[in-house]
Amino acid sequence: MKIAMLGSGFIARFYADTLHDQRRKDRIHLVYSRDEHNAKRFADDYGLKVFTTDMEEAINHPDTEVVLISLPNHLHEAAVLACVKAKVPVLCTKPLGRNAQEAKRMLEAVEKAGIFAGYLEDLCYTPKFLKSMKSIQGGSLGRILWTKSREAHPGPHSDWFWDKEKSGGGAIIDLGCHCVEIGRNFIGKQVKPLEVMCWADTQVHPIDAEDHAVGLVRYASGAIGQFEVSWTFRGGMDLRDEVMGTEGTIWLNSFLRTGFEMFTTGKGEGYIAEKAESNSGWLFPVGDESNELGYPHMFTDMFDAMETGREPLETFYDGYVVNAILDAAFLSARTKQWEPVALDIWRGEEVTEHAASVQDYDSDHLLIKKEILPNGDVKLILKNKKTGELSQVVN
Ligand SMILES: NC(=O)c1ccc[n+]([C@@H]2O[C@H](COP(=O)([O-])OP(=O)(O)OC[C@H]3O[C@@H](n4cnc5c(N)ncnc54)[C@H](O)[C@@H]3O)[C@@H](O)[C@H]2O)c1
Repeated sequence: MKIAMLGSGFIARFYADTLHDQRRKDRIHLVYSRDEHNAKRFADDYGLKVFTTDMEEAINHPDTEVVLISLPNHLHEAAVLACVKAKVPVLCTKPLGRNAQEAKRMLEAVEKAGIFAGYLEDLCYTPKFLKSMKSIQGGSLGRILWTKSREAHPGPHSDWFWDKEKSGGGAIIDLGCHCVEIGRNFIGKQVKPLEVMCWADTQVHPIDAEDHAVGLVRYASGAIGQFEVSWTFRGGMDLRDEVMGTEGTIWLNSFLRTGFEMFTTGKGEGYIAEKAESNSGWLFPVGDESNELGYPHMFTDMFDAMETGREPLETFYDGYVVNAILDAAFLSARTKQWEPVALDIWRGEEVTEHAASVQDYDSDHLLIKKEILPNGDVKLILKNKKTGELSQVVN
């Protein structure tokens, strides 16, 4: 694939590092940046022959086979619509829109035009995440009851993120989009998100948007998806997920604790890891950041999907559902009530049935709990099926 890169900032470089690494055959062939100096610098760094300050020119270039949108949130829609006009396949970074209305317009436009569209939600492609999904889909955790996803760091690296008009919000839109989609995957994308309760506040920074939020998404299966997002966290980038089911639990730590610990007096200085706040003392570097963050698996899925004519794991539809959940979170933070998730387009199940996880003890009793006590006794808590009476037996 010959890729046209739109944007030359932080994520464009992460994507380019991934795409031009490990002898991958899909290559960026040109870059668009509004600033000529930045466009040229990016082109020089990645050995590109072409750079431009005209977005349409990049999209319509005869060699462009797919467009990769790495622009600030308020520019996603215009860039997607330009790809639709040119009928060129498009990959868009997260969040898809600043709100569900924008995301819906993008979804409908790409579907009407019949062009391939992929949603670049990298954290749903990390090696740890993909393996967790296999275990969950294989039944190792039983029925999923609770997911918790946290992304917290000291705040983003460019002015536009802090401008609510351009970004669409603060930590909720920037980081919550990852956490919500992680929860949706664990709980099952076919399960309908029903309502959201969210607390949000501006605790530290002098901005209009929230810099800290905690939310709960209630799903039709009864599962709850918790998200914890912050631009006020000190100490680097905290990326952690938890899944709890009737048969098991998974805990993931994707960044601050990957098993790599280093001490330095700071003599060498330099880059340690994304959002690391220090380069001396005990540090937590990340071996291959792109890989730990899911970028290689994400692009492999996207290009395989394009080649074979299937859907990628993360689609514009997913981006739209995420935006709809986040819209409800913003509303709930204001009203301090549970707010329904407004989904004009819903392609999953209306009602999700789940198998009972209650176990029979004997013909008269259900088993509530079994525990081995410190003295070796085995205690069973039982419920009488007819009377509802609770009792215990010790073996
Ligand atoms: N894990 C991830 O998937 C991840 C991580 C970081 C950022 N992102 C997303 O990537 C997008 C870009 O974020 P970033 O971190 O690269 O930001 P950035 O500020 O580092 O880069 C943004 C790029 O857009 C250009 N730009 C800014 N304003 C523009 C304008 N008005 N017109 C044209 N170009 C303009 C900048 O010059 C720069 O090239 C955002 O949507 C962000 O949410 C995704």
